[in-house]
Amino acid sequence: MQQHGNRGFTVWLTGLPGSGKTTIAQKLLRELKARKLKVELFDGDEVRRNLSKGLGFSKEDRDTHNKRIIYVCKLLTRNGVNAIVSLISPYRSTRAYARENLPNFVEVYLNCSVKECIKRDPKGLYKKALAGEITNMTGIQDPYEEPLTPEVLLDTEHDPSSRNVVKIIRKLESLGYIKA
Ligand SMILES: Nc1ncnc2c1ncn2[C@@H]1O[C@H](COP(=O)(O)OP(=O)(O)O)[C@@H](O)[C@H]1O
Ligand SMILES: [Mg+2]
Repeated sequence: MQQHGNRGFTVWLTGLPGSGKTTIAQKLLRELKARKLKVELFDGDEVRRNLSKGLGFSKEDRDTHNKRIIYVCKLLTRNGVNAIVSLISPYRSTRAYARENLPNFVEVYLNCSVKECIKRDPKGLYKKALAGEITNMTGIQDPYEEPLTPEVLLDTEHDPSSRNVVKIIRKLESLGYIKA
């Protein structure tokens, strides 16, 4: 299958905080750059420091934050630049909006139990949420709506990130978005 026009693809990584989105996104970025592809990474935490500065974690603010990224990805991908997005993106409706607005959309669900994410807690946010110091924490007070039919399903609780990156690469190859 040929890539749709000369449009880029968007790999959209969704999952609970601590499920491994940033870890896998950075490895995938390195892997795609090594293949001389044009690619930009939009990681939730970094975008919240610039494009989405000042936004919080209400449903409305999360949607605004995600939709800003979708808009930028639309501009890039129509010019043939590929995008990796690593965002909790907890709402199905928002991810459906991304799918409708982005060509060559590849949804990747990082499946990891809340229990394991609490154990990892790379930023100490679960600890704060469980102590009631922060609210609106996805997985604790806020919902995470699991993807029902993602292009790629990763078990980030048990499988090493290196193997999961290979899984994404294989999917991009089988979809015809990158050369095998
Ligand atoms: N199998 C695994 N896959 C991905 N991350 C893992 C795995 N095992 C342990 N980790 C660790 O879990 C943490 C995930 O954090 P991070 O990538 O920042 O998640 P997120 O961006 O989804 O919040 C990292 O410290 C990572 O090293
Ligand atoms: Mg992250």
